[in-house]
Parts: sequence; C-alpha cells; structure tokens
Amino acid sequence: MQVFKEKELLKQSLSNNKLAGNTIGLVPTMGALHEGHLYLVKEALKSCDQVVVSIFVNPTQFDNPEDLEKYPRNLEKDINLLQNISEEIIVFTPNANELYGDLIISEHFDFDGLDIVMEGKHRTGHFDGVGTVVKLLFEAVEPNKAFFGEKDYQQLQIIRKLTEIENIPVEIVGCPILREESGLARSSRNERLNDLQREKAAFIFETLKETKTLFGTKSANYINDWVEQQFRNYPFLELEYFEISDAKTLKKLTEKREGEHYRAFIAAYAGDIRLIDNLALNN
Ligand code: PAJ
Repeated sequence: MQVFKEKELLKQSLSNNKLAGNTIGLVPTMGALHEGHLYLVKEALKSCDQVVVSIFVNPTQFDNPEDLEKYPRNLEKDINLLQNISEEIIVFTPNANELYGDLIISEHFDFDGLDIVMEGKHRTGHFDGVGTVVKLLFEAVEPNKAFFGEKDYQQLQIIRKLTEIENIPVEIVGCPILREESGLARSSRNERLNDLQREKAAFIFETLKETKTLFGTKSANYINDWVEQQFRNYPFLELEYFEISDAKTLKKLTEKREGEHYRAFIAAYAGDIRLIDNLALNN
C-alpha cells in the first residue's frame, strides 16, 4: 500500500490515474479509524477506480487545545486496517506545514448561516478550520468524488456549500451513520468512554428515535421540552443542545412545511467526552 506524506509525490502517483480518466475518490479523516470510517472507504471503493484516504489531525478545527492534544493518533494501526480492506488504497498523511505551508491558520468562509448554529455555535471557528483543510485536501488530491458521513451532518452540508462557493468540481457523497449494536453512533471518542458510559450513551439514539415518533403529532416546542426533561432525569449524560432543523438550511424549525425534510440533532457530554448524533425525522 502506498503512503505519502508529500503533496508532490501524491500528485505524481495519481497522475497516471488522471491521464487514464479514472475516477478518484477521497475519504478525508483524522485517523483513529473505526468501522464508521471504514464504511466510507468501502463505499468509495465501490464507485471509484482509485481511493485516497487522508489521515490528518487538523489543528485549525479544534477550539480547545486539550481536545487537539488528546485526540487519538495511531497511524500504524490505521494503515493496517486500510490494508486489510485493499492494498490498492493510497494513504495521504501530510504534516501541518506540508499541507498548509508556513502559516497554519483558517481561511474565513461565508457558509450562508450553516456555520452559526449547533456545532458552529458551540465550537468557535470550527467550520472555518474544516473548510480550510478540506479545500487544501481537494487541491492536493483533485478527487472526482469525496465521501463524508452523516454522523457529522452539519459538516456534510457545509462541505457541499464549500464546493459551491469555491467552484470546486467534486461530487460530495453523504453516507449513513454506522452505529454500535446499542445504537450509539460510532466515533473515535467512544474509545474514551468507560464501560458504563458507553452503555448509557445509547440513550442519545434512543431519545432521537422517540423524537421521530413524536414528530408525527407534536410541535417542535413540545418535543424540545420533552427531550430536555428526558435528559434532566438521566444522570449519565449532560445535554448541550437539542435541535430540530431543516435538513438543508439547518435553520431551526419554527413551523413544519409540507415537502420539507427535517432532522433532529443532539450534542451531549458523558463526563468530559462530547458526543453528537442526528436522525432524519421524515424521509
Ligand atoms: P473524522 O472525525 O475522522 O471523520 C471522518 C469522516 O468519517 C467524516 O466524514 C465523518 O462524518 C465520518 N464518520 C465518522 N463516524 C462515522 C459513523 N459512525 N458513521 C458514518 N460516518 C462516520 O470529520 C472529520 O474527521 C474532519 O472534520 C475532516 C472532515 C477529516 C476534516 O478535518
């Protein structure tokens, strides 16, 4: 399996693929790969001739230095997991200066309000950091398709907007959330949960499923109050936010409109570990 740390060498390796008109797929990750990431890789392999997986813990998207420091890193294990799927995968794992140049800072984007709600509201500058690094990865790889998980649904919508405002010719493919048996959305952060926390964190998805049922007959306000009450009565998790939003604009639901799609979003803490999840309320 080929592993590149330098953009130039990666470009050289991809040039034959490009000349042959092959479809190049990119799966951007921050490593500590789990089944959720591997699912994206498998989806990419189904529809692309050459798949590139980037592994880069992006400093500009962390608003909390401790979170960046604690972020799990295990390149050797990640490479092994990918190798078990296919020897043909190319791994791109640059260091920060190789990807950014001398100045490791975020560009500022106008995401048309997508970045000021939910994760954007609670993590200052996060989406400018994500937009910056994904734009740099697109420039390095020039993929035809790029794969992102609905696990980070707001991020997925922001990347779609990024390609629109920056005119980047890449198809963005959204992939469903892969879950543990309990229903807990798979995440690198789950490794930091102790056994009890991991078991109790399934409550997030349980609650989301109930909101989907309530959504048929109840108002957004009613459901909001109900969810807040559920979390108040549950000592294992602390709710940071619950929102029902338009699936496209991410604007908070005030009045249901016929033909529109809505999603419910939760961020909650198990101890100091922040977990997020979301679910489509109508299909
Ligand atoms: P990371 O958290 O490593 O996630 C990489 C990709 O895997 C994202 O598109 C994310 O939505 C997807 N993913 C994670 N858990 C998943 C699950 N349980 N089911 C389906 N997909 C899942 O997201 C990032 O990295 C970064 O912000 C990045 C886009 C790489 C930019 O730095």
